[in-house]
Amino acid sequence: MAPDKVDVVLLSDEEIPTCFEILSKSFSNGAPFVDIYFPHHDTPSGQAQGSKRLLEWKKSSSDSTFLKAVARGNHGEQEHIIGLAVWTYMKEAPHAELDKDENVVEVWPDEDDREYMTRLWRDYVIPRTQAIAASDGKGVYVLELLAVHPDYQRLGAGTALVKWGTKAADEQGIKAVVEGTPVARRLYEQSGFHAKIGEMRFDTGEEFAGRRKPNLIFMVREAES
Ligand SMILES: CC(C)(COP(=O)(O)OP(=O)(O)OC[C@H]1O[C@@H](n2cnc3c(N)ncnc32)[C@H](O)[C@@H]1OP(=O)(O)O)[C@@H](O)C(=O)NCCC(=O)NCCS
Repeated sequence: MAPDKVDVVLLSDEEIPTCFEILSKSFSNGAPFVDIYFPHHDTPSGQAQGSKRLLEWKKSSSDSTFLKAVARGNHGEQEHIIGLAVWTYMKEAPHAELDKDENVVEVWPDEDDREYMTRLWRDYVIPRTQAIAASDGKGVYVLELLAVHPDYQRLGAGTALVKWGTKAADEQGIKAVVEGTPVARRLYEQSGFHAKIGEMRFDTGEEFAGRRKPNLIFMVREAES
């Protein structure tokens, strides 16, 4: 049954595992970047590790805001989490070397997986790094994660989670950016983003030619007054 109301509020540390499960379910196995970045995210061990990484990230980055979308029903139905988003205010260029932010040996124990992810990451951060460099020191808001539970999609939760960051960006008069999946493109366009790079480039080398590559669109939204 469709909820009567969807609210967006801050997410607590204890709610991270629930949110990680939603993330895994919503992307299922259709998003190569998520599959590589959160290995085995659809298994109990992958979810435990993914939750641990999200929690470490939440605790270590004061510029990242972890949000949940909550559905509330009028019929005694308990409120429950149906989606999540992470927005980060970035003023400094992100690290291009993944091992500066992640315990890469633990997360990608296989050497080839680790190398592939490391190369992907270098290219992944290029557009957002350029956006930060072009911001004249003002910084940008980056939508780093967005996922809505498959049973609760098309009810406005995604839009509400995006709205939190675009509103903050408008208040500061700065741009918002996202490395978007094709399925979310329409939602981002309706929220004021346009595609700056229709297909992000990932030059991971001949040795990884057989691997699935991310299919991502780099989208930018100008501040609105
Ligand atoms: C993308 C996603 C977050 C959208 O969440 P949502 O709560 O369903 O979004 P909304 O209900 O706010 O949708 C707003 C509009 O976006 C568009 N839209 C959303 N999902 C769509 C889909 N699957 N196909 C086409 N258009 C879609 C529609 O125009 C929709 O408006 P409408 O329902 O009135 O037609 C959700 O589909 C999801 O979690 N997908 C998998 C994870 C993912 O790709 N995340 C984005 C990472 S960058």
